[in-house]
Amino acid sequence: MHQAALTLDPAFRVAPVQRRTFGTFVEHLGRCVYTGIYEPGHPAADEDGFRADVLELTRELGVSTVRYPGGNFVSGYRWEDGVGPKELRPRRLDLAWHSTETNEVGVDEFVRWCRKAGVEPMMAVNLGTRGIEAALDLLEYCNHPSGTALADRRIAGGAKEPHDVRMWCLGNEMDGPWQTGHKTAAEYGRLAAETARAMRMIDPKLELVACGSSSSSMPTFGAWEAEVLTHTYDVVDYISCHAYYEEKDGDLGSFLACATDMEFFIRSVAATADHVGAKLKSRKRIDISFDEWNVWYLSRFQNADPPSDWPVAPRLLEDHYHLADAVAVGGLLITLLRHSDRVRAASLAQLVNVIAPIMTEPGGRAWRQTTFHPFAQASRYASGDVLRVEPVCPSYETAAYGQVPLLHAVATHDERSTTVFAINRATDRPMELRLDARALGGARVVEASTLSGPDVYARNTADDPGRVAPRPNPDVRHDPETVVLPPVSWNVIRLG
Ligand code: AHR
Repeated sequence: MHQAALTLDPAFRVAPVQRRTFGTFVEHLGRCVYTGIYEPGHPAADEDGFRADVLELTRELGVSTVRYPGGNFVSGYRWEDGVGPKELRPRRLDLAWHSTETNEVGVDEFVRWCRKAGVEPMMAVNLGTRGIEAALDLLEYCNHPSGTALADRRIAGGAKEPHDVRMWCLGNEMDGPWQTGHKTAAEYGRLAAETARAMRMIDPKLELVACGSSSSSMPTFGAWEAEVLTHTYDVVDYISCHAYYEEKDGDLGSFLACATDMEFFIRSVAATADHVGAKLKSRKRIDISFDEWNVWYLSRFQNADPPSDWPVAPRLLEDHYHLADAVAVGGLLITLLRHSDRVRAASLAQLVNVIAPIMTEPGGRAWRQTTFHPFAQASRYASGDVLRVEPVCPSYETAAYGQVPLLHAVATHDERSTTVFAINRATDRPMELRLDARALGGARVVEASTLSGPDVYARNTADDPGRVAPRPNPDVRHDPETVVLPPVSWNVIRLG
Protein backbone atom coordinates (compact mmCIF):
# COMPACT_ATOMS: atom_id res chain seq x y z
CA MET A 1 0.00 0.00 0.00
CA HIS A 2 1.32 3.47 -0.87
CA GLN A 3 1.20 6.01 1.97
CA ALA A 4 0.18 9.65 1.52
CA ALA A 5 -0.87 12.55 3.70
CA LEU A 6 -2.26 16.02 3.30
CA THR A 7 -3.21 18.89 5.57
CA LEU A 8 -6.50 20.74 5.32
CA ASP A 9 -6.53 24.28 6.63
CA PRO A 10 -9.07 27.00 5.73
CA ALA A 11 -6.26 29.54 6.12
CA PHE A 12 -4.62 28.19 2.96
CA ARG A 13 -7.11 29.86 0.66
CA VAL A 14 -6.33 30.10 -3.06
CA ALA A 15 -9.46 31.88 -4.30
CA PRO A 16 -13.21 31.38 -4.34
CA VAL A 17 -14.40 28.45 -6.47
CA GLN A 18 -15.13 29.96 -9.88
CA ARG A 19 -18.45 28.60 -11.12
CA ARG A 20 -17.30 29.18 -14.68
CA THR A 21 -14.70 26.45 -14.16
CA PHE A 22 -17.56 24.09 -14.94
CA GLY A 23 -18.24 25.32 -18.44
CA THR A 24 -18.56 23.13 -21.53
CA PHE A 25 -18.72 23.66 -25.25
CA VAL A 26 -21.27 23.12 -28.05
CA GLU A 27 -19.85 23.34 -31.55
CA HIS A 28 -21.54 22.77 -34.88
CA LEU A 29 -19.45 19.64 -35.31
CA GLY A 30 -20.58 16.09 -35.96
CA ARG A 31 -23.60 15.30 -33.80
CA CYS A 32 -23.09 17.79 -31.01
CA VAL A 33 -25.94 20.05 -32.14
CA TYR A 34 -27.97 17.86 -34.53
CA THR A 35 -29.12 14.66 -32.79
CA GLY A 36 -27.20 15.93 -29.74
CA ILE A 37 -28.94 18.86 -28.11
CA TYR A 38 -31.47 19.21 -30.96
CA GLU A 39 -33.52 16.47 -32.55
CA PRO A 40 -37.08 17.35 -33.52
CA GLY A 41 -39.12 14.18 -33.84
CA HIS A 42 -37.22 12.39 -31.08
CA PRO A 43 -39.63 10.94 -28.47
CA ALA A 44 -38.00 13.19 -25.84
CA ALA A 45 -38.00 16.35 -28.02
CA ASP A 46 -39.72 19.37 -26.51
CA GLU A 47 -41.73 22.01 -28.37
CA ASP A 48 -38.50 23.59 -29.68
CA GLY A 49 -36.98 20.31 -30.84
CA PHE A 50 -34.53 20.10 -27.93
CA ARG A 51 -33.95 16.69 -26.40
CA ALA A 52 -35.30 16.80 -22.84
CA ASP A 53 -33.12 13.82 -21.88
CA VAL A 54 -29.98 15.76 -22.88
CA LEU A 55 -31.21 18.87 -21.09
CA GLU A 56 -31.71 16.76 -17.96
CA LEU A 57 -28.22 15.27 -18.17
CA THR A 58 -26.74 18.73 -18.79
CA ARG A 59 -28.34 19.96 -15.57
CA GLU A 60 -27.12 16.87 -13.72
CA LEU A 61 -23.61 17.48 -15.05
CA GLY A 62 -23.69 20.86 -13.31
CA VAL A 63 -22.67 22.92 -16.32
CA SER A 64 -22.19 26.64 -15.69
CA THR A 65 -21.37 28.14 -19.12
CA VAL A 66 -21.49 26.84 -22.68
CA ARG A 67 -19.19 28.16 -25.42
CA TYR A 68 -20.74 28.34 -28.91
CA PRO A 69 -20.72 27.88 -31.97
CA GLY A 70 -17.06 26.79 -32.31
CA GLY A 71 -14.34 25.81 -32.39
CA ASN A 72 -12.90 25.55 -35.85
CA PHE A 73 -16.45 25.89 -37.19
CA VAL A 74 -16.73 29.52 -36.12
CA SER A 75 -13.87 30.60 -38.36
CA GLY A 76 -16.03 30.14 -41.46
CA TYR A 77 -19.42 30.86 -39.89
CA ARG A 78 -21.91 33.47 -41.06
CA TRP A 79 -24.12 33.93 -38.03
CA GLU A 80 -26.87 35.55 -40.12
CA ASP A 81 -27.48 32.18 -41.82
CA GLY A 82 -28.80 30.84 -38.51
CA VAL A 83 -31.45 33.46 -37.74
CA GLY A 84 -34.91 34.18 -39.10
CA PRO A 85 -37.46 31.70 -40.47
CA LYS A 86 -35.94 28.22 -40.57
CA GLU A 87 -37.29 27.44 -44.03
CA LEU A 88 -35.33 30.38 -45.46
CA ARG A 89 -32.01 29.48 -43.84
CA PRO A 90 -29.32 28.43 -46.33
CA ARG A 91 -27.37 25.21 -46.28
CA ARG A 92 -23.63 25.86 -46.38
CA LEU A 93 -20.39 23.97 -46.65
CA ASP A 94 -18.59 23.75 -43.32
CA LEU A 95 -14.93 23.67 -44.32
CA ALA A 96 -13.66 22.96 -40.81
CA TRP A 97 -15.35 19.56 -40.56
CA HIS A 98 -16.07 18.84 -44.22
CA SER A 99 -19.79 18.75 -43.50
CA THR A 100 -22.99 20.46 -44.62
CA GLU A 101 -24.44 22.93 -42.13
CA THR A 102 -28.23 23.18 -42.34
CA ASN A 103 -28.47 26.19 -40.01
CA GLU A 104 -31.61 24.84 -38.36
CA VAL A 105 -30.00 25.87 -35.08
CA GLY A 106 -28.49 29.33 -34.74
CA VAL A 107 -27.84 31.85 -32.02
CA ASP A 108 -31.49 32.30 -30.96
CA GLU A 109 -32.10 28.58 -30.61
CA PHE A 110 -28.82 28.18 -28.75
CA VAL A 111 -29.64 30.90 -26.21
CA ARG A 112 -33.12 29.44 -25.77
CA TRP A 113 -31.55 26.06 -25.09
CA CYS A 114 -29.17 27.68 -22.56
CA ARG A 115 -32.09 29.21 -20.67
CA LYS A 116 -33.77 25.81 -20.47
CA ALA A 117 -30.55 24.15 -19.34
CA GLY A 118 -29.90 26.90 -16.79
CA VAL A 119 -26.47 27.71 -18.24
CA GLU A 120 -24.76 30.92 -19.30
CA PRO A 121 -24.09 31.31 -23.02
CA MET A 122 -20.54 32.25 -24.07
CA MET A 123 -20.21 33.30 -27.70
CA ALA A 124 -17.32 33.18 -30.16
CA VAL A 125 -17.07 35.54 -33.14
CA ASN A 126 -15.56 34.71 -36.51
CA LEU A 127 -12.17 36.38 -36.92
CA GLY A 128 -11.10 33.85 -39.55
CA THR A 129 -13.05 34.68 -42.70
CA ARG A 130 -14.79 37.71 -41.20
CA GLY A 131 -13.94 40.55 -38.83
CA ILE A 132 -15.03 43.63 -36.93
CA GLU A 133 -18.28 44.33 -38.73
CA ALA A 134 -19.74 40.84 -38.39
CA ALA A 135 -18.73 40.74 -34.73
CA LEU A 136 -20.41 44.08 -34.06
CA ASP A 137 -23.54 43.01 -35.89
CA LEU A 138 -23.78 39.80 -33.87
CA LEU A 139 -23.26 41.67 -30.63
CA GLU A 140 -25.93 44.24 -31.51
CA TYR A 141 -28.28 41.47 -32.62
CA CYS A 142 -27.81 39.59 -29.37
CA ASN A 143 -27.58 42.30 -26.74
CA HIS A 144 -29.20 45.53 -27.93
CA PRO A 145 -32.70 45.84 -26.43
CA SER A 146 -34.65 47.19 -29.44
CA GLY A 147 -35.05 49.99 -31.94
CA THR A 148 -32.30 49.07 -34.44
CA ALA A 149 -32.60 46.91 -37.53
CA LEU A 150 -30.55 44.12 -35.96
CA ALA A 151 -32.20 44.16 -32.53
CA ASP A 152 -35.64 44.30 -34.12
CA ARG A 153 -34.72 41.34 -36.32
CA ARG A 154 -34.05 39.33 -33.16
CA ILE A 155 -37.38 40.45 -31.70
CA ALA A 156 -39.19 39.56 -34.93
CA GLY A 157 -37.66 36.08 -34.62
CA GLY A 158 -39.28 35.66 -31.21
CA ALA A 159 -36.54 36.77 -28.80
CA LYS A 160 -38.08 39.85 -27.21
CA GLU A 161 -35.53 40.15 -24.42
CA PRO A 162 -31.85 40.72 -25.27
CA HIS A 163 -29.71 37.61 -25.01
CA ASP A 164 -27.34 39.54 -22.74
CA VAL A 165 -24.25 37.48 -23.58
CA ARG A 166 -21.45 38.66 -21.28
CA MET A 167 -18.47 36.58 -22.39
CA TRP A 168 -17.15 36.70 -25.97
CA CYS A 169 -14.24 34.84 -27.56
CA LEU A 170 -12.40 36.86 -30.20
CA GLY A 171 -12.04 34.05 -32.73
CA ASN A 172 -10.80 30.52 -32.20
CA GLU A 173 -7.31 28.98 -32.31
CA MET A 174 -6.01 31.59 -34.71
CA ASP A 175 -2.46 30.28 -34.16
CA GLY A 176 -3.35 26.98 -35.85
CA PRO A 177 -2.54 26.46 -39.55
CA TRP A 178 -5.69 24.26 -39.73
CA GLN A 179 -7.85 27.29 -38.91
CA THR A 180 -9.73 28.93 -41.79
CA GLY A 181 -8.20 32.39 -41.92
CA HIS A 182 -5.19 31.40 -39.77
CA LYS A 183 -3.08 34.44 -38.87
CA THR A 184 0.28 35.38 -37.49
CA ALA A 185 0.32 36.66 -33.91
CA ALA A 186 0.80 40.24 -35.15
CA GLU A 187 -2.06 40.00 -37.65
CA TYR A 188 -4.38 38.41 -35.12
CA GLY A 189 -3.33 40.69 -32.26
CA ARG A 190 -4.19 43.80 -34.28
CA LEU A 191 -7.54 42.40 -35.46
CA ALA A 192 -8.49 41.16 -31.98
CA ALA A 193 -7.60 44.52 -30.43
CA GLU A 194 -9.60 46.51 -32.97
CA THR A 195 -12.57 44.13 -32.69
CA ALA A 196 -12.47 44.34 -28.90
CA ARG A 197 -12.26 48.13 -28.95
CA ALA A 198 -15.26 48.34 -31.27
CA MET A 199 -17.29 45.81 -29.25
CA ARG A 200 -16.60 47.82 -26.11
CA MET A 201 -18.09 50.87 -27.82
CA ILE A 202 -21.39 48.98 -27.71
CA ASP A 203 -20.85 47.64 -24.19
CA PRO A 204 -17.72 48.47 -22.15
CA LYS A 205 -18.56 45.80 -19.58
CA LEU A 206 -18.26 42.79 -21.90
CA GLU A 207 -15.78 40.10 -20.88
CA LEU A 208 -13.51 39.44 -23.83
CA VAL A 209 -11.19 36.52 -24.49
CA ALA A 210 -8.19 36.75 -26.81
CA CYS A 211 -6.99 33.53 -28.47
CA GLY A 212 -3.94 32.03 -26.84
CA SER A 213 -2.23 28.87 -28.04
CA SER A 214 -4.02 25.76 -29.30
CA SER A 215 -1.68 23.68 -27.17
CA SER A 216 1.53 24.09 -25.23
CA SER A 217 3.32 22.16 -27.98
CA MET A 218 2.61 24.72 -30.70
CA PRO A 219 5.89 26.06 -32.14
CA THR A 220 4.70 29.59 -31.41
CA PHE A 221 3.66 28.87 -27.80
CA GLY A 222 4.73 31.68 -25.47
CA ALA A 223 5.73 34.07 -28.26
CA TRP A 224 2.13 34.00 -29.51
CA GLU A 225 0.67 35.03 -26.14
CA ALA A 226 3.29 37.76 -25.70
CA GLU A 227 2.62 39.33 -29.10
CA VAL A 228 -1.17 38.99 -28.95
CA LEU A 229 -1.33 40.49 -25.47
CA THR A 230 0.98 43.33 -26.41
CA HIS A 231 -1.75 44.40 -28.85
CA THR A 232 -4.78 43.53 -26.76
CA TYR A 233 -3.76 43.96 -23.11
CA ASP A 234 -5.94 46.99 -22.39
CA VAL A 235 -9.05 45.74 -24.15
CA VAL A 236 -9.37 42.06 -23.19
CA ASP A 237 -9.93 40.29 -19.88
CA TYR A 238 -8.77 36.76 -20.64
CA ILE A 239 -6.31 34.85 -22.77
CA SER A 240 -7.43 31.37 -23.79
CA CYS A 241 -5.66 28.02 -23.39
CA HIS A 242 -6.65 24.82 -25.20
CA ALA A 243 -5.31 21.36 -24.34
CA TYR A 244 -6.23 17.79 -25.25
CA TYR A 245 -4.58 14.65 -23.93
CA GLU A 246 -4.61 10.98 -24.87
CA GLU A 247 -2.88 7.78 -23.87
CA LYS A 248 -0.13 7.21 -26.43
CA ASP A 249 1.67 3.91 -27.16
CA GLY A 250 0.14 2.24 -24.12
CA ASP A 251 1.94 4.63 -21.73
CA LEU A 252 -0.75 4.82 -19.05
CA GLY A 253 1.61 6.32 -16.46
CA SER A 254 2.34 9.40 -18.57
CA PHE A 255 -1.31 9.73 -19.53
CA LEU A 256 -2.50 9.73 -15.91
CA ALA A 257 0.04 12.51 -15.28
CA CYS A 258 -1.23 14.73 -18.14
CA ALA A 259 -2.32 17.43 -15.67
CA THR A 260 1.41 18.14 -15.34
CA ASP A 261 1.32 19.66 -18.80
CA MET A 262 -1.81 21.65 -17.96
CA GLU A 263 -0.02 22.95 -14.86
CA PHE A 264 2.98 24.04 -16.98
CA PHE A 265 0.62 25.60 -19.52
CA ILE A 266 -1.22 27.70 -16.91
CA ARG A 267 1.94 28.85 -15.15
CA SER A 268 3.63 29.77 -18.43
CA VAL A 269 0.68 31.74 -19.78
CA ALA A 270 0.17 33.57 -16.48
CA ALA A 271 3.88 34.47 -16.39
CA THR A 272 3.80 35.65 -20.01
CA ALA A 273 0.71 37.77 -19.39
CA ASP A 274 2.31 39.31 -16.30
CA HIS A 275 5.49 40.01 -18.24
CA VAL A 276 3.53 41.91 -20.90
CA GLY A 277 1.63 43.75 -18.15
CA ALA A 278 4.90 44.76 -16.51
CA LYS A 279 6.32 46.06 -19.79
CA LEU A 280 3.17 48.10 -20.31
CA LYS A 281 3.34 49.31 -16.69
CA SER A 282 -0.24 48.12 -16.31
CA ARG A 283 -1.94 47.37 -13.00
CA LYS A 284 -4.48 45.24 -14.78
CA ARG A 285 -4.22 41.44 -14.64
CA ILE A 286 -5.19 39.17 -17.51
CA ASP A 287 -6.90 35.94 -16.44
CA ILE A 288 -7.07 32.59 -18.20
CA SER A 289 -10.08 31.12 -19.94
CA PHE A 290 -9.16 27.45 -20.42
CA ASP A 291 -11.94 27.21 -22.94
CA GLU A 292 -11.12 23.85 -24.52
CA TRP A 293 -9.79 20.93 -22.50
CA ASN A 294 -10.41 17.21 -22.39
CA VAL A 295 -9.13 13.77 -23.24
CA TRP A 296 -9.28 13.45 -27.03
CA TYR A 297 -7.84 10.56 -29.08
CA LEU A 298 -6.78 13.10 -31.69
CA SER A 299 -4.31 10.72 -33.34
CA ARG A 300 -7.21 8.38 -34.28
CA PHE A 301 -9.02 11.32 -35.86
CA GLN A 302 -5.91 12.49 -37.70
CA ASN A 303 -5.24 8.99 -39.02
CA ALA A 304 -8.80 8.49 -40.29
CA ASP A 305 -9.70 9.18 -43.93
CA PRO A 306 -11.40 12.57 -44.39
CA PRO A 307 -15.01 12.32 -45.62
CA SER A 308 -15.26 12.24 -49.41
CA ASP A 309 -18.66 13.93 -49.43
CA TRP A 310 -20.30 16.68 -47.32
CA PRO A 311 -22.55 14.87 -44.83
CA VAL A 312 -25.00 16.49 -42.42
CA ALA A 313 -24.14 15.80 -38.77
CA PRO A 314 -21.82 12.83 -39.37
CA ARG A 315 -20.41 10.75 -36.54
CA LEU A 316 -17.19 12.66 -35.84
CA LEU A 317 -14.86 12.61 -32.82
CA GLU A 318 -17.16 10.21 -30.94
CA ASP A 319 -14.54 9.03 -28.47
CA HIS A 320 -15.74 6.28 -26.18
CA TYR A 321 -14.14 6.89 -22.81
CA HIS A 322 -12.91 4.36 -20.28
CA LEU A 323 -12.16 4.52 -16.57
CA ALA A 324 -8.57 5.75 -16.98
CA ASP A 325 -9.84 8.58 -19.22
CA ALA A 326 -12.21 9.62 -16.44
CA VAL A 327 -9.36 9.61 -13.91
CA ALA A 328 -7.29 11.78 -16.29
CA VAL A 329 -10.25 14.17 -16.65
CA GLY A 330 -10.50 14.29 -12.85
CA GLY A 331 -6.80 15.18 -12.67
CA LEU A 332 -7.31 18.02 -15.14
CA LEU A 333 -10.26 19.33 -13.11
CA ILE A 334 -8.10 19.27 -9.98
CA THR A 335 -5.47 21.37 -11.76
CA LEU A 336 -8.06 23.89 -12.97
CA LEU A 337 -9.38 24.21 -9.41
CA ARG A 338 -5.88 24.52 -7.94
CA HIS A 339 -5.40 27.56 -10.19
CA SER A 340 -8.72 29.22 -9.45
CA ASP A 341 -6.91 32.47 -8.70
CA ARG A 342 -5.97 32.69 -12.36
CA VAL A 343 -8.20 30.31 -14.33
CA ARG A 344 -11.53 32.05 -14.03
CA ALA A 345 -13.34 30.19 -16.79
CA ALA A 346 -12.96 26.82 -18.47
CA SER A 347 -14.88 24.71 -20.98
CA LEU A 348 -14.81 20.95 -21.18
CA ALA A 349 -14.81 20.29 -24.92
CA GLN A 350 -17.43 19.25 -25.75
CA LEU A 351 -20.88 18.55 -24.24
CA VAL A 352 -22.67 15.93 -26.35
CA ASN A 353 -21.44 13.17 -28.68
CA VAL A 354 -18.26 14.99 -29.78
CA ILE A 355 -15.49 14.06 -27.29
CA ALA A 356 -18.26 14.39 -24.75
CA PRO A 357 -19.48 13.30 -21.33
CA ILE A 358 -23.02 12.80 -22.72
CA MET A 359 -23.78 10.44 -25.61
CA THR A 360 -26.96 10.01 -27.57
CA GLU A 361 -28.33 7.70 -30.19
CA PRO A 362 -30.47 9.32 -32.91
CA GLY A 363 -34.04 8.49 -31.98
CA GLY A 364 -32.71 6.56 -28.98
CA ARG A 365 -31.17 6.83 -25.56
CA ALA A 366 -28.91 9.40 -23.91
CA TRP A 367 -26.30 8.12 -21.46
CA ARG A 368 -23.36 9.13 -19.29
CA GLN A 369 -19.79 8.39 -20.37
CA THR A 370 -17.22 7.62 -17.66
CA THR A 371 -15.92 11.20 -17.87
CA PHE A 372 -19.35 12.52 -16.89
CA HIS A 373 -18.77 11.55 -13.28
CA PRO A 374 -15.69 13.50 -12.17
CA PHE A 375 -17.10 16.62 -13.80
CA ALA A 376 -20.55 16.23 -12.22
CA GLN A 377 -19.10 15.51 -8.78
CA ALA A 378 -16.61 18.38 -8.90
CA SER A 379 -19.30 20.81 -10.02
CA ARG A 380 -21.68 19.57 -7.35
CA TYR A 381 -19.32 19.48 -4.39
CA ALA A 382 -16.74 22.24 -5.07
CA SER A 383 -18.03 25.11 -3.02
CA GLY A 384 -16.80 28.16 -1.14
CA ASP A 385 -13.04 28.59 -1.31
CA VAL A 386 -10.38 26.50 -3.00
CA LEU A 387 -7.81 25.39 -0.42
CA ARG A 388 -4.19 24.84 -1.26
CA VAL A 389 -3.10 21.31 -0.34
CA GLU A 390 0.43 19.99 -0.61
CA PRO A 391 0.24 16.19 -0.56
CA VAL A 392 3.17 14.28 0.87
CA CYS A 393 3.34 11.11 -1.22
CA PRO A 394 5.65 8.96 -3.31
CA SER A 395 6.33 9.89 -6.92
CA TYR A 396 6.83 7.77 -10.03
CA GLU A 397 8.85 8.11 -13.19
CA THR A 398 6.99 9.00 -16.40
CA ALA A 399 8.39 9.09 -19.93
CA ALA A 400 6.57 12.34 -20.70
CA TYR A 401 7.04 14.39 -17.51
CA GLY A 402 9.81 12.81 -15.41
CA GLN A 403 9.00 12.32 -11.71
CA VAL A 404 5.33 12.96 -10.93
CA PRO A 405 3.51 12.64 -7.55
CA LEU A 406 1.25 9.59 -7.32
CA LEU A 407 -1.42 11.66 -5.59
CA HIS A 408 -2.95 14.75 -7.20
CA ALA A 409 -5.44 16.63 -5.04
CA VAL A 410 -7.24 19.82 -4.17
CA ALA A 411 -9.83 20.77 -1.54
CA THR A 412 -12.67 23.23 -1.25
CA HIS A 413 -14.20 24.59 1.91
CA ASP A 414 -17.35 26.42 2.89
CA GLU A 415 -19.08 27.00 6.22
CA ARG A 416 -20.75 23.57 6.11
CA SER A 417 -18.18 21.18 4.74
CA THR A 418 -14.77 20.54 3.28
CA THR A 419 -14.33 18.36 0.22
CA VAL A 420 -11.16 16.73 -1.03
CA PHE A 421 -10.89 15.76 -4.71
CA ALA A 422 -8.04 13.34 -5.34
CA ILE A 423 -6.75 10.98 -7.98
CA ASN A 424 -4.49 8.06 -7.23
CA ARG A 425 -2.26 7.63 -10.30
CA ALA A 426 -0.70 4.41 -9.07
CA THR A 427 -1.49 1.48 -11.33
CA ASP A 428 -0.09 -1.18 -9.01
CA ARG A 429 -1.39 -0.54 -5.51
CA PRO A 430 -3.98 1.33 -3.45
CA MET A 431 -2.94 4.38 -1.46
CA GLU A 432 -3.67 5.07 2.18
CA LEU A 433 -4.39 8.78 2.45
CA ARG A 434 -4.22 10.34 5.90
CA LEU A 435 -5.98 13.69 6.28
CA ASP A 436 -4.74 16.14 8.89
CA ALA A 437 -8.02 17.91 9.66
CA ARG A 438 -7.03 19.51 12.97
CA ALA A 439 -7.57 23.04 11.58
CA LEU A 440 -11.16 22.06 10.73
CA GLY A 441 -12.14 21.81 14.39
CA GLY A 442 -12.74 18.10 14.67
CA ALA A 443 -14.34 17.56 11.25
CA ARG A 444 -14.64 13.90 10.30
CA VAL A 445 -15.02 12.12 6.99
CA VAL A 446 -18.77 11.83 6.51
CA GLU A 447 -18.82 10.50 2.96
CA ALA A 448 -16.29 9.10 0.52
CA SER A 449 -16.83 7.89 -3.02
CA THR A 450 -14.51 6.39 -5.57
CA LEU A 451 -14.57 5.94 -9.33
CA SER A 452 -12.38 2.89 -9.82
CA GLY A 453 -12.50 -0.75 -10.77
CA PRO A 454 -10.51 -3.83 -11.74
CA ASP A 455 -10.46 -2.91 -15.45
CA VAL A 456 -9.04 0.55 -16.14
CA TYR A 457 -10.29 0.24 -19.72
CA ALA A 458 -13.92 -0.45 -18.74
CA ARG A 459 -16.42 1.72 -20.57
CA ASN A 460 -20.08 2.62 -20.26
CA THR A 461 -22.45 1.87 -23.13
CA ALA A 462 -26.07 2.68 -23.93
CA ASP A 463 -26.94 -0.87 -22.77
CA ASP A 464 -24.76 -0.73 -19.66
CA PRO A 465 -24.56 2.97 -18.76
CA GLY A 466 -23.80 2.39 -15.06
CA ARG A 467 -20.80 0.08 -15.42
CA VAL A 468 -18.33 2.84 -14.49
CA ALA A 469 -19.88 5.13 -11.88
CA PRO A 470 -18.87 6.46 -8.45
CA ARG A 471 -19.47 4.02 -5.59
CA PRO A 472 -19.23 4.57 -1.84
CA ASN A 473 -15.69 3.98 -0.61
CA PRO A 474 -15.88 1.48 2.29
CA ASP A 475 -12.22 2.00 3.32
CA VAL A 476 -12.62 4.92 5.71
CA ARG A 477 -11.17 5.12 9.24
CA HIS A 478 -11.35 7.87 11.83
CA ASP A 479 -8.90 9.50 14.30
CA PRO A 480 -6.90 10.19 12.28
CA GLU A 481 -9.15 10.51 9.23
CA THR A 482 -7.87 7.98 6.72
CA VAL A 483 -9.22 6.85 3.35
CA VAL A 484 -7.84 4.15 1.09
CA LEU A 485 -7.81 5.21 -2.57
CA PRO A 486 -7.89 2.31 -5.05
CA PRO A 487 -5.33 2.23 -7.88
CA VAL A 488 -6.19 4.46 -10.88
CA SER A 489 -9.08 6.18 -9.14
CA TRP A 490 -10.94 9.47 -8.87
CA ASN A 491 -12.09 10.14 -5.30
CA VAL A 492 -14.35 12.58 -3.50
CA ILE A 493 -13.99 12.79 0.28
CA ARG A 494 -16.33 14.97 2.28
CA LEU A 495 -15.64 16.14 5.83
CA GLY A 496 -18.12 17.85 8.10
O1 AHR B 1 -13.08 20.55 -29.92
C1 AHR B 1 -12.67 20.12 -31.18
C2 AHR B 1 -11.79 21.12 -31.90
O2 AHR B 1 -10.57 21.21 -31.21
C3 AHR B 1 -12.27 22.55 -31.95
O3 AHR B 1 -13.13 22.79 -33.01
C4 AHR B 1 -11.00 23.31 -32.13
O4 AHR B 1 -11.06 24.60 -31.60
C5 AHR B 1 -9.95 22.44 -31.47
O5 AHR B 1 -8.85 22.25 -32.29
